[in-house]
Amino acid sequence: MDHESFTQICLHQLKMSGVHEGEKLVVLTQGNERLEYADAFMAAGARLGASMYHMRLPAPSAMGGWNVGVTGLAALPDAVEAQKACDMLIDCVFLLFSPEQFAIQAAGTRILTAVEPPELLARMLPSTELREKVEIGAEYLAKAKVMRITSPHGTDVTYKLNTYPTVAEYACTDEPGRWDHWPSGFVFTGGDDDGVDGQIVVAPGDILLPQNMYVRDPITYTIKKGFITDMRGGLDCELVKSYMDGFNDERGKGMSHVGWGMNPDAKWHRMTPGEFPGGMGMEPRSFYGNVMFSTGPNNELGGSNDTACHLDIPMRNCSLFLDDEPIVIDGEIVVKEMQMERS
Ligand code: FE2
Repeated sequence: MDHESFTQICLHQLKMSGVHEGEKLVVLTQGNERLEYADAFMAAGARLGASMYHMRLPAPSAMGGWNVGVTGLAALPDAVEAQKACDMLIDCVFLLFSPEQFAIQAAGTRILTAVEPPELLARMLPSTELREKVEIGAEYLAKAKVMRITSPHGTDVTYKLNTYPTVAEYACTDEPGRWDHWPSGFVFTGGDDDGVDGQIVVAPGDILLPQNMYVRDPITYTIKKGFITDMRGGLDCELVKSYMDGFNDERGKGMSHVGWGMNPDAKWHRMTPGEFPGGMGMEPRSFYGNVMFSTGPNNELGGSNDTACHLDIPMRNCSLFLDDEPIVIDGEIVVKEMQMERS
């Protein structure tokens, strides 16, 4: 994407995020990654009269793999302090789940994560309508006491919802201390620590993240009191088990966030390498009518499980009920005021 086109979509993003003259913004990158993001955001911010600079961290050491919550900021407390002093941080590194991100938010700095390829950012721009619908979804979720998810493949699981807050992601952020991720479009919360019970059958076509794989044969999870007690299936199941075993951390079997996708611009099928190389799966997380469960940490929601073993698993054709009220039926959002037309 050329610089001016990238600048234009960043300008749209910053306007949607309420950036105005005199605000203090910082763009964070590391190593040689996403330097063109910083250029585009800087150019866009200048057009809005924001006071901006680019903070570039050293390249991470070549340990390989993604370690949830571990960032280069940990060794640079002065950099964290500088970010706390800003109105908005554009995170092109991916600080999510890190103690540094929580500290920066707590200081009132709003954070927008932008790490997906520019083509995907352009295809899934934030909009006022998406924000409104997602906020309605979040209102429904925030007042619910019980979530039940079912599917034709045998999923029947219940999450008790008495502990954790609801999080809405709509791809822009204009409130102090609030984090969002561009692109996105979904809502989630977490079940009580000992309050998730039942069975989840991940079916062919459902998606494993961070593996970025479409499941080919079913994986059956048995969940008791908030922990996975059994996993059965074929090769996909073996891959997930092997991945989880690699962390040597039983807390990876905890149940993490759960919710549903609401972005009509996101397509279920577009994660194939031929169509769309790279990326971290925000499109499959967001596609309209998916039901996504996750395993591992819940510290993002304020819980005590901060294991680095985390999977997000968006599923198709599920039904989701809040206190017995249908929200999603067979992969379609059925609450009128929450509905959008797929593009
Ligand atoms: Fe997640």
